[in-house]
Amino acid sequence: MTHKHQALAEIFKSYRNLVVVGGNWGDEGKGKIIDAVLAHYDVAVRFSGGANAGHTVFTPDGKKIVSHLIPCGLAQHKICVLGRGEFFNLELFLKELEESKRVLLSQGDNSPQPPLLKRGGASSGLSPIYIDQQAPLWTPYHRWFEVYIEHMRGQAKVGTTNKGIGPLEGLYKLRLAPVVGHLFEKEVLETVLKSLFNVLSPCFDRLASDGLLEKETIPNPEMVLGTLISLADKIKDYVADTSFLLHEMVKEKKRMLFEGAQAAGLDAWWGTYPYVSSGNSVAAGACLGTGLPMQEFEATIMVAKILPTRVGFGPFASEMWERAAAMDFAKDNADLFADNEKRRGFLAEKLQKINSGHASRPEMSQYFQVLGDERGATTGRGRSVGFLDIPWLLYAIRINRPKWLALTRFDMLSKIKSLPVVVAYKYQGKILPPGKLPPPWHLQEVEAVLEHWECWPDDIMGAVQEAKLPAGAKKFLQTLEKHLGVPILLVGTGPGRDDLVVRA
Ligand code: IMP
Repeated sequence: MTHKHQALAEIFKSYRNLVVVGGNWGDEGKGKIIDAVLAHYDVAVRFSGGANAGHTVFTPDGKKIVSHLIPCGLAQHKICVLGRGEFFNLELFLKELEESKRVLLSQGDNSPQPPLLKRGGASSGLSPIYIDQQAPLWTPYHRWFEVYIEHMRGQAKVGTTNKGIGPLEGLYKLRLAPVVGHLFEKEVLETVLKSLFNVLSPCFDRLASDGLLEKETIPNPEMVLGTLISLADKIKDYVADTSFLLHEMVKEKKRMLFEGAQAAGLDAWWGTYPYVSSGNSVAAGACLGTGLPMQEFEATIMVAKILPTRVGFGPFASEMWERAAAMDFAKDNADLFADNEKRRGFLAEKLQKINSGHASRPEMSQYFQVLGDERGATTGRGRSVGFLDIPWLLYAIRINRPKWLALTRFDMLSKIKSLPVVVAYKYQGKILPPGKLPPPWHLQEVEAVLEHWECWPDDIMGAVQEAKLPAGAKKFLQTLEKHLGVPILLVGTGPGRDDLVVRA
């Protein structure tokens, strides 16, 4: 066992259940943190989000898997549970399953552990996977309804990922949802699909009359039924009452890791509404999305990026540049994002400007975007970068009450002399108390109170020991911890899976 895993084993042995959530607006690198702690757990559970999520994880022998719907735990042969709070897309699930099989069962990989439980796709050769029988089920209607909503919102659109997430959650709450278990009850599914189609067809008519689709593109309920039923058998073995299953696993003293998707800022209730995703992505979502009682949740790790990012629309008080410009920058300058001379020259020039105090905010944004390869894994859009935002994190900490923080991409501050940090928000002339935000529709009006924090001249990329960090980096962490009042347990120091400091 490596030093890192020994330290983590010691820390996590008292916490049978652990929730990992994002503290910003997604893309914090939760996959990397989950990858690091998975070894200490038996079961990996998703409780929110859906195909809009994208986590990169690794098999024990280092092969890469990108997980969207299936918990990251599959890569490390854990029992995987897709809880009721996760939105289920059958076609994408099957695609991801095949891809995972291709990687995990390929020659030379550690052979997976024999399935511990009878069902859950026991014959697939992978560790067991369970899908909740009542998880909302995606149909093409959800996709087109999302197109309709964004179209009708016009300028006020949310900038969604087009995975039908909002419609899946919203229509479920309107009691119009097909769910996974309906796949095996043809008549029930048919009835639900007909109601769904009847309710939504005026929206599809409008899309057709506005020239956004050919009317024939929309399949009738019989066609949707036919497609779904034709695929249903492939997952029959995976479908379960996962709340009961998890309850049984608790009795067997299995250790469980709850893998968050998206983040506090994108939570439908506690994020920057309406510029949010539609699930419960804060820690409390683990309880709602799995059907396990609150008492089962022992500790939470909140993952925060040293420089937060945002894609899509919505308020972002510490943002360095305009959203649209930052998102386009990555698209228009793809060559800067490849490992080449041009990139190196660009970074050197911008770093010099930042350190001489002559860089504009857009230039700072560009530097960090290129340095951190800040582009979306699911959508390929550029991510807009912000300064470290303490008032936002204090809010996310208040909502999630994490036991520890994991701070990712800390190496990005290497070689920087000093950088502005947002230490408070001023709103309507007054400093807001820690943990308090204005309503999201006024969040953009806050004045970010800045301090300049010293960074450090050395490159810490790949550092694994706190003792070996430069004094400036250690001081930075200590100062941040003091402001946040939560210990920073893990610090990401590079893109590699082992580039991580455990601060035991
Ligand atoms: P939806 O989740 O597709 O409904 O998108 C709603 C908002 O959440 C959009 O601004 C998306 O860009 C954002 N979003 C959803 N999932 C992620 C994610 O995994 N990372 C970053 N942003 C996300």
